[in-house]
Amino acid sequence: MSVLLTIESTCDETAAAVVTDRLEVLASVVASQETLHGPFAGVVPEIAARAHVERIVPTIDQALRRAGLELDDLDAIAVAHTPGLAGSLLVGLMAAKALCLATGKPLVTVNHLHAHVYACRLAEGREVFPCVGLIVSGGHTLLYDCAGPTEFRYLGGTIDDAAGEAFDKVAAMLGLPYPGGPSIAKAAEGGDPTAYRFPRGLSQDRQTLDFSFSGLKTAVRYALFGYGKPASDQPSPTPQQIADLAASFQEAVVDALVSRSLLALQKTGRRTLCVGGGVAANRRLRQRLTEATAAAGVALCIAPPELCTDNAVMGAIAFEKLRRGQTDPLDVDILPGLVRG
Ligand code: KG4
Ligand code: ZN
Repeated sequence: MSVLLTIESTCDETAAAVVTDRLEVLASVVASQETLHGPFAGVVPEIAARAHVERIVPTIDQALRRAGLELDDLDAIAVAHTPGLAGSLLVGLMAAKALCLATGKPLVTVNHLHAHVYACRLAEGREVFPCVGLIVSGGHTLLYDCAGPTEFRYLGGTIDDAAGEAFDKVAAMLGLPYPGGPSIAKAAEGGDPTAYRFPRGLSQDRQTLDFSFSGLKTAVRYALFGYGKPASDQPSPTPQQIADLAASFQEAVVDALVSRSLLALQKTGRRTLCVGGGVAANRRLRQRLTEATAAAGVALCIAPPELCTDNAVMGAIAFEKLRRGQTDPLDVDILPGLVRG
């Protein structure tokens, strides 16, 4: 049996996990920075990087202690090195490199987005590849054709905001707390999803697998404050208006995600849809995807919420690289931008 320490620090969670090659999770620690970024209604890169520096060693230490293992017991050390915030990525990669240098263990880098798809493999406990992968998070919204656990082909993605980012920004407009996804989902429970007809960005194009959420964000702003008027001139929205706006906005995002996922399945001929990323925790999205995939006769895998949001367990995708002899040299660098492929 081989054992892996995985490190995740791509955005605002400092996480470490210890996982076996049978995909048993021996320990998983996630140190969230939610309270640090809450006052800014979004992740502040410099604050995130500094918080990672403070937390990375205690987080790794705690994961090893919970697993009852020493560094010497590990077979390799994995770290997400792309994509993400440069400062945040650097902290995780430097920690992993330092541990590899000190122990002589091999280093395996993983793509954070591929790892989000792999979370479905972990949750299902059986093979999910080949599949279409939908990643919906605060930083990304994209579709992959996944022939296997190391073969990802970019199909399409957002041309502006990520879905989670739109949730966070619209929540701030509605005066709801950060992170916006869970707040909007909660407010939407008492709202009418048909109260406002918001745009489903790019959905009139029946061929594209791209998304757009910036127009939707603007449409919510106009519905809330009026067209071309300063926000300060408007009376505060009533709780029912907030609920209706939240429900209508959520429905527009969900519509776009569901329709593109079905189109991706159709275009690739894959029979399984795997969904990952923080927004995959959204109950309405889960419900609509369940209905849509059942109607289309394809399998749906969505990880439980704790595996949807950023975590280090999903870094177990590194075993797929290790099995193929794919380790990394110690001078490997971070890749903050999205590499389509
Ligand atoms: O994957 P994640 O934890 O971090 C990134 O890599 O971005 O995703 C965080 C995003 C945030 O934008 C948050 O508002 C959103 O996921 N989110 C949700 C829900 N829970 C988290 N969005 C919609 N509904 C939810 N229940
Ligand atoms: Zn993520």
